[in-house]
Amino acid sequence: MMIKIEDLEVWYDSIPVLRDVRLEINRGDFILIIGPNGSGKTTLLKTIANLVKPKKGAVYIDGKESNRYSPRSLSKILSYIDPHLSREMPTTVLELLMTARYPREDLFKIKVDKEFINKINEIAKTLRIEDLLERRLDQVSSGELQRIIIARALLQDPEIFLVDEPTAFLDLKYRFEIMDLLKKINREYMKTMIVTTHDLILAGLYGEKIILLYKGMIRAAGDVEKVLKKDLVKEVYEIDVEEIYVNNRKILIPINMK
Ligand SMILES: Nc1ncnc2c1ncn2[C@@H]1O[C@H](COP(=O)(O)OP(=O)(O)OP(=O)(O)O)[C@@H](O)[C@H]1O
Ligand SMILES: [Mg+2]
Repeated sequence: MMIKIEDLEVWYDSIPVLRDVRLEINRGDFILIIGPNGSGKTTLLKTIANLVKPKKGAVYIDGKESNRYSPRSLSKILSYIDPHLSREMPTTVLELLMTARYPREDLFKIKVDKEFINKINEIAKTLRIEDLLERRLDQVSSGELQRIIIARALLQDPEIFLVDEPTAFLDLKYRFEIMDLLKKINREYMKTMIVTTHDLILAGLYGEKIILLYKGMIRAAGDVEKVLKKDLVKEVYEIDVEEIYVNNRKILIPINMK
């Protein structure tokens, strides 16, 4: 067992946003979290990363409550990957990647050894961003930025990747590319991957274990067959979907019946 969430309740000010969340996530799992806007997906990832404090219950990572880890030791175990990284930062892609090792330190204090530079080059090649290293962050496309953000997380080399809506701004080809990449990191590097998405088609294509959040609670959890159901989607998203099968995978196509 790697992550255990017990009876979790999270409030912002006087409003409850997560309730009765109980979850067990194993090492090497590939988990998709789906649910409508405001259902608590980001809050759940941030609570696991100890960026948001629970009002009740707890998150255990390898048997130890997450708030008992120091920020530095927690950052070695998990990385919350925020796709809404500000492009306003006056840094180059290379400079951003160099902060990966010391996420909470000043860029000017970082000592860069040859081994780390080699690692940056290797990962930049894998993610096809090697030609972008000298560019500033406001000079790359959304798809490239997602790959840069994932490259930085790979350099941090955590056990657990918490990835918040990595496909939000991407066209179809890059949505598949990013999901393929996350799956590859999951399989080849044996990393636990927890990914949120709004995209029901991607959920069908890539889902292994899916968690459906609704109004701050887990409405359903399990495999594609169990969670991606017409009735459930109608109840939660208030839309009609058509269930189709492609290569034995169930895919939900949203349709507008009006
Ligand atoms: N910092 C905050 N302060 C107060 N309320 C917040 C804060 N962040 C989120 N909320 C509220 O908590 C609820 C859950 O938000 P959260 O961002 O976790 O949902 P989400 O499922 O990630 O939504 P989305 O799909 O839009 O990203 C929402 O009602 C939101 O308005
Ligand atoms: Mg969110």
